[in-house]
Amino acid sequence: MEHNSLSACCTLSNGAAIPCVGYGTWQMPDGSGTADAVLAAIRAGYRHIDTAAAYGNERSVGNAIRASGLPREELFITSKLANPDHGYEATRAAFLRTLDSLGTDYLDLYLIHWPNPIAFRDQWKQANAGTWRAMEEFYREGRIRAIGVSNFCQRHLEALLESAQIAPMVNQLSLSPGLTQDELCRYSREMGMLLEAYSPLGTGRVLNVPEMAAYAEKYGRSAAQICLRWSLQMGFLPLPKSADPTRMAQNIQIFDFSLSDEDVAAIAALDCGGVPRDPDTTTF
Ligand code: A2P
Repeated sequence: MEHNSLSACCTLSNGAAIPCVGYGTWQMPDGSGTADAVLAAIRAGYRHIDTAAAYGNERSVGNAIRASGLPREELFITSKLANPDHGYEATRAAFLRTLDSLGTDYLDLYLIHWPNPIAFRDQWKQANAGTWRAMEEFYREGRIRAIGVSNFCQRHLEALLESAQIAPMVNQLSLSPGLTQDELCRYSREMGMLLEAYSPLGTGRVLNVPEMAAYAEKYGRSAAQICLRWSLQMGFLPLPKSADPTRMAQNIQIFDFSLSDEDVAAIAALDCGGVPRDPDTTTF
Protein backbone atom coordinates (compact mmCIF):
# COMPACT_ATOMS: atom_id res chain seq x y z
CA MET A 1 0.00 0.00 0.00
CA GLU A 2 1.83 3.14 -1.19
CA HIS A 3 -0.04 6.33 -0.44
CA ASN A 4 1.12 9.71 -1.62
CA SER A 5 -1.62 12.03 -0.46
CA LEU A 6 -4.22 12.47 2.26
CA SER A 7 -6.94 12.01 -0.34
CA ALA A 8 -5.59 8.56 -1.28
CA CYS A 9 -7.92 5.72 -0.36
CA CYS A 10 -7.61 2.06 0.51
CA THR A 11 -10.12 -0.36 -0.96
CA LEU A 12 -12.11 -2.61 1.34
CA SER A 13 -13.01 -6.18 0.40
CA ASN A 14 -16.43 -5.04 -0.83
CA GLY A 15 -14.85 -2.43 -3.12
CA ALA A 16 -15.65 0.59 -0.89
CA ALA A 17 -13.01 3.32 -0.74
CA ILE A 18 -11.74 4.45 2.68
CA PRO A 19 -9.44 7.48 3.12
CA CYS A 20 -6.01 6.20 4.16
CA VAL A 21 -5.75 8.25 7.40
CA GLY A 22 -8.58 8.93 9.84
CA TYR A 23 -9.06 11.39 12.66
CA GLY A 24 -9.47 9.54 15.97
CA THR A 25 -11.76 10.97 18.66
CA TRP A 26 -11.22 8.61 21.61
CA GLN A 27 -11.04 10.45 24.95
CA MET A 28 -12.60 13.59 23.51
CA PRO A 29 -15.63 14.47 25.66
CA ASP A 30 -18.95 15.58 24.20
CA GLY A 31 -19.16 19.36 23.94
CA SER A 32 -18.15 22.38 21.94
CA GLY A 33 -14.41 21.72 22.44
CA THR A 34 -14.67 18.42 20.60
CA ALA A 35 -16.97 19.85 17.92
CA ASP A 36 -14.40 22.64 17.35
CA ALA A 37 -11.54 20.13 17.19
CA VAL A 38 -13.33 17.89 14.68
CA LEU A 39 -14.25 20.91 12.58
CA ALA A 40 -10.60 22.05 12.67
CA ALA A 41 -9.57 18.55 11.56
CA ILE A 42 -11.98 18.65 8.62
CA ARG A 43 -10.68 22.11 7.67
CA ALA A 44 -7.12 20.79 7.91
CA GLY A 45 -8.04 18.16 5.32
CA TYR A 46 -9.17 15.07 7.23
CA ARG A 47 -12.13 13.42 5.49
CA HIS A 48 -12.34 10.29 7.64
CA ILE A 49 -13.59 10.61 11.22
CA ASP A 50 -13.58 7.73 13.70
CA THR A 51 -15.98 7.89 16.65
CA ALA A 52 -17.89 5.40 18.81
CA ALA A 53 -21.06 5.34 20.89
CA ALA A 54 -18.85 4.56 23.90
CA TYR A 55 -16.83 7.76 23.40
CA GLY A 56 -20.03 9.69 24.14
CA ASN A 57 -19.15 12.34 21.54
CA GLU A 58 -21.23 11.38 18.49
CA ARG A 59 -23.38 14.52 18.84
CA SER A 60 -20.31 16.76 18.79
CA VAL A 61 -18.94 14.93 15.75
CA GLY A 62 -22.33 15.40 14.06
CA ASN A 63 -22.29 19.11 14.87
CA ALA A 64 -18.84 19.46 13.36
CA ILE A 65 -19.90 17.63 10.19
CA ARG A 66 -22.81 20.02 9.70
CA ALA A 67 -20.69 23.08 10.55
CA SER A 68 -18.14 22.03 7.92
CA GLY A 69 -20.73 22.58 5.20
CA LEU A 70 -19.31 19.63 3.27
CA PRO A 71 -21.70 17.32 1.46
CA ARG A 72 -22.13 14.15 3.55
CA GLU A 73 -20.70 11.95 0.80
CA GLU A 74 -17.35 13.76 0.97
CA LEU A 75 -16.83 12.46 4.49
CA PHE A 76 -16.17 8.93 5.70
CA ILE A 77 -17.74 8.38 9.12
CA THR A 78 -17.10 5.38 11.35
CA SER A 79 -18.85 4.54 14.60
CA LYS A 80 -18.92 1.49 16.84
CA LEU A 81 -21.45 -0.56 18.76
CA ALA A 82 -21.09 -0.04 22.52
CA ASN A 83 -20.60 -2.93 24.92
CA PRO A 84 -24.05 -3.01 26.58
CA ASP A 85 -25.79 -3.25 23.20
CA HIS A 86 -24.73 -6.66 21.90
CA GLY A 87 -27.38 -9.01 20.45
CA TYR A 88 -29.76 -8.61 17.53
CA GLU A 89 -32.48 -6.33 18.94
CA ALA A 90 -30.15 -4.16 21.01
CA THR A 91 -27.84 -3.66 18.03
CA ARG A 92 -30.70 -2.50 15.82
CA ALA A 93 -31.77 0.07 18.42
CA ALA A 94 -28.17 1.18 19.14
CA PHE A 95 -27.37 1.71 15.47
CA LEU A 96 -30.46 3.91 15.01
CA ARG A 97 -29.45 5.94 18.08
CA THR A 98 -25.98 6.42 16.61
CA LEU A 99 -27.45 7.70 13.33
CA ASP A 100 -29.65 10.07 15.31
CA SER A 101 -26.76 11.35 17.44
CA LEU A 102 -24.59 11.93 14.39
CA GLY A 103 -27.51 13.45 12.45
CA THR A 104 -26.88 11.30 9.40
CA ASP A 105 -28.90 8.64 7.62
CA TYR A 106 -26.02 6.26 6.93
CA LEU A 107 -22.60 5.27 8.25
CA ASP A 108 -19.60 4.53 6.07
CA LEU A 109 -18.32 1.95 8.55
CA TYR A 110 -19.84 0.38 11.65
CA LEU A 111 -17.75 -1.82 13.95
CA ILE A 112 -18.41 -4.10 16.91
CA HIS A 113 -16.27 -2.23 19.44
CA TRP A 114 -15.37 -5.15 21.67
CA PRO A 115 -15.69 -8.94 21.13
CA ASN A 116 -16.87 -10.05 24.55
CA PRO A 117 -18.01 -7.36 26.96
CA ILE A 118 -18.25 -8.44 30.55
CA ALA A 119 -22.07 -8.48 30.44
CA PHE A 120 -21.97 -11.11 27.67
CA ARG A 121 -18.91 -13.07 28.67
CA ASP A 122 -20.70 -16.38 29.09
CA GLN A 123 -22.59 -16.03 25.77
CA TRP A 124 -20.43 -13.78 23.64
CA LYS A 125 -20.51 -15.99 20.54
CA GLN A 126 -24.28 -15.99 20.43
CA ALA A 127 -24.46 -12.24 21.19
CA ASN A 128 -21.98 -11.45 18.40
CA ALA A 129 -23.87 -13.66 15.95
CA GLY A 130 -27.07 -11.70 16.65
CA THR A 131 -25.26 -8.37 16.44
CA TRP A 132 -23.67 -9.34 13.16
CA ARG A 133 -27.02 -10.41 11.66
CA ALA A 134 -28.43 -6.95 12.49
CA MET A 135 -25.36 -5.26 10.97
CA GLU A 136 -25.62 -7.39 7.82
CA GLU A 137 -29.25 -6.31 7.43
CA PHE A 138 -28.40 -2.62 7.71
CA TYR A 139 -25.52 -3.18 5.30
CA ARG A 140 -27.82 -4.81 2.74
CA GLU A 141 -30.25 -1.91 3.12
CA GLY A 142 -27.42 0.53 2.34
CA ARG A 143 -27.55 2.20 5.75
CA ILE A 144 -24.01 1.02 6.49
CA ARG A 145 -21.50 1.01 3.62
CA ALA A 146 -19.03 -1.36 5.30
CA ILE A 147 -19.08 -3.50 8.44
CA GLY A 148 -16.29 -4.71 10.66
CA VAL A 149 -14.95 -5.34 14.14
CA SER A 150 -12.49 -3.93 16.64
CA ASN A 151 -10.27 -5.60 19.22
CA PHE A 152 -11.15 -9.06 17.85
CA CYS A 153 -8.54 -11.80 18.32
CA GLN A 154 -8.38 -14.81 16.02
CA ARG A 155 -10.67 -16.89 18.26
CA HIS A 156 -13.34 -14.16 18.18
CA LEU A 157 -13.07 -13.84 14.40
CA GLU A 158 -13.29 -17.60 13.89
CA ALA A 159 -16.44 -17.75 16.01
CA LEU A 160 -18.03 -14.84 14.12
CA LEU A 161 -17.20 -16.36 10.74
CA GLU A 162 -19.07 -19.56 11.68
CA SER A 163 -22.42 -17.80 11.27
CA ALA A 164 -21.56 -14.65 9.26
CA GLN A 165 -22.92 -14.38 5.74
CA ILE A 166 -20.71 -11.36 5.06
CA ALA A 167 -17.13 -11.37 6.34
CA PRO A 168 -15.93 -8.33 8.34
CA MET A 169 -14.12 -5.82 6.15
CA VAL A 170 -12.06 -4.18 8.91
CA ASN A 171 -10.39 -5.15 12.18
CA GLN A 172 -9.45 -2.05 14.17
CA LEU A 173 -6.65 -2.81 16.64
CA SER A 174 -4.19 -1.05 18.90
CA LEU A 175 -1.16 -0.95 16.56
CA SER A 176 1.91 1.22 17.08
CA PRO A 177 5.71 0.88 17.06
CA GLY A 178 6.60 -2.16 19.17
CA LEU A 179 2.95 -3.27 19.26
CA THR A 180 2.41 -4.97 15.92
CA GLN A 181 0.25 -8.04 16.79
CA ASP A 182 1.80 -9.86 13.81
CA GLU A 183 -0.11 -13.16 13.98
CA LEU A 184 -3.47 -11.46 14.43
CA CYS A 185 -2.71 -9.04 11.57
CA ARG A 186 -1.71 -11.90 9.31
CA TYR A 187 -4.91 -13.84 10.07
CA SER A 188 -7.16 -10.74 9.73
CA ARG A 189 -5.63 -9.95 6.34
CA GLU A 190 -5.97 -13.54 5.21
CA MET A 191 -9.68 -13.24 5.99
CA GLY A 192 -9.89 -10.09 3.85
CA MET A 193 -9.85 -7.42 6.53
CA LEU A 194 -8.12 -4.05 6.37
CA LEU A 195 -6.24 -3.24 9.57
CA GLU A 196 -6.97 0.09 11.16
CA ALA A 197 -4.54 1.32 13.83
CA TYR A 198 -6.05 3.03 16.84
CA SER A 199 -3.67 4.75 19.26
CA PRO A 200 -1.05 4.81 16.46
CA LEU A 201 1.15 7.01 18.67
CA GLY A 202 0.69 4.58 21.56
CA THR A 203 -1.53 7.31 23.12
CA GLY A 204 1.59 9.49 23.07
CA ARG A 205 3.84 6.97 24.87
CA VAL A 206 5.86 6.10 21.77
CA LEU A 207 6.82 9.75 21.22
CA ASN A 208 9.04 9.71 24.32
CA VAL A 209 11.09 6.69 23.30
CA PRO A 210 14.71 7.87 22.64
CA GLU A 211 15.05 5.86 19.41
CA MET A 212 12.05 7.75 17.99
CA ALA A 213 13.87 11.04 18.60
CA ALA A 214 16.80 9.64 16.63
CA TYR A 215 14.56 8.70 13.67
CA ALA A 216 12.91 12.12 13.87
CA GLU A 217 16.35 13.71 13.61
CA LYS A 218 17.43 11.41 10.75
CA TYR A 219 14.38 12.18 8.60
CA GLY A 220 13.92 15.80 9.72
CA ARG A 221 10.38 15.08 10.96
CA SER A 222 8.62 14.89 14.31
CA ALA A 223 8.43 11.59 16.18
CA ALA A 224 4.65 11.58 15.58
CA GLN A 225 5.19 11.88 11.83
CA ILE A 226 7.68 8.99 11.93
CA CYS A 227 5.10 6.86 13.78
CA LEU A 228 2.33 7.65 11.32
CA ARG A 229 4.47 7.19 8.23
CA TRP A 230 5.60 3.86 9.71
CA SER A 231 1.94 2.88 10.23
CA LEU A 232 1.14 3.58 6.56
CA GLN A 233 4.20 1.64 5.39
CA MET A 234 3.16 -1.29 7.61
CA GLY A 235 -0.07 -1.33 5.60
CA PHE A 236 -2.16 -0.04 8.52
CA LEU A 237 -4.71 2.75 8.35
CA PRO A 238 -3.73 5.07 11.22
CA LEU A 239 -6.32 6.97 13.29
CA PRO A 240 -4.26 9.59 15.17
CA LYS A 241 -6.01 11.70 17.76
CA SER A 242 -5.07 15.27 18.53
CA ALA A 243 -7.20 18.05 19.93
CA ASP A 244 -4.56 20.60 18.92
CA PRO A 245 -4.87 22.17 15.44
CA THR A 246 -1.10 22.44 14.94
CA ARG A 247 -0.53 18.79 15.83
CA MET A 248 -3.51 17.53 13.87
CA ALA A 249 -2.13 19.32 10.79
CA GLN A 250 1.36 17.97 11.44
CA ASN A 251 -0.04 14.43 11.67
CA ILE A 252 -1.18 14.45 8.04
CA GLN A 253 2.04 15.88 6.62
CA ILE A 254 3.37 12.38 6.09
CA PHE A 255 3.09 11.95 2.34
CA ASP A 256 6.26 13.66 1.17
CA PHE A 257 8.83 11.32 2.67
CA SER A 258 9.26 7.63 3.28
CA LEU A 259 11.16 5.42 5.70
CA SER A 260 13.64 2.83 4.49
CA ASP A 261 12.48 -0.80 4.73
CA GLU A 262 15.23 -1.35 7.28
CA ASP A 263 13.94 1.45 9.51
CA VAL A 264 10.33 0.23 9.18
CA ALA A 265 11.45 -3.17 10.48
CA ALA A 266 13.55 -1.65 13.29
CA ILE A 267 10.68 0.61 14.43
CA ALA A 268 8.33 -2.39 14.44
CA ALA A 269 10.71 -4.14 16.83
CA LEU A 270 11.25 -1.21 19.24
CA ASP A 271 10.28 -1.77 22.85
CA CYS A 272 7.89 1.09 23.55
CA GLY A 273 6.27 -0.47 26.59
CA GLY A 274 2.85 -1.24 25.10
CA VAL A 275 0.94 -4.51 25.49
CA PRO A 276 -2.37 -5.34 23.82
CA ARG A 277 -5.28 -5.69 26.22
CA ASP A 278 -6.70 -9.19 26.48
CA PRO A 279 -10.39 -8.81 25.51
CA ASP A 280 -11.28 -11.92 27.52
CA THR A 281 -10.22 -10.50 30.89
CA THR A 282 -11.18 -6.82 30.80
CA THR A 283 -13.82 -5.58 33.20
CA PHE A 284 -15.95 -3.60 30.74
P1 A2P B 1 -3.10 16.27 21.95
O1 A2P B 1 -4.55 15.85 21.73
O2 A2P B 1 -2.94 17.26 23.04
O3 A2P B 1 -2.42 16.66 20.66
P2 A2P B 1 -2.93 8.32 19.91
O4 A2P B 1 -3.41 8.89 18.61
O5 A2P B 1 -1.93 7.24 19.79
O6 A2P B 1 -4.09 7.92 20.81
O7 A2P B 1 -2.17 9.50 20.68
C1 A2P B 1 -2.87 10.63 21.13
C2 A2P B 1 -2.01 11.41 22.10
O8 A2P B 1 -0.87 11.91 21.42
C3 A2P B 1 -2.74 12.60 22.65
O9 A2P B 1 -2.32 12.77 24.00
C4 A2P B 1 -2.28 13.76 21.77
O10 A2P B 1 -2.32 14.96 22.50
C5 A2P B 1 -0.86 13.35 21.44
N1 A2P B 1 -0.43 13.81 20.12
C6 A2P B 1 -1.12 13.70 18.96
N2 A2P B 1 -0.41 14.18 17.94
C7 A2P B 1 0.76 14.61 18.45
C8 A2P B 1 1.92 15.22 17.88
N3 A2P B 1 2.01 15.47 16.59
N4 A2P B 1 2.92 15.56 18.73
C9 A2P B 1 2.85 15.30 20.06
N5 A2P B 1 1.78 14.73 20.65
C10 A2P B 1 0.75 14.38 19.86
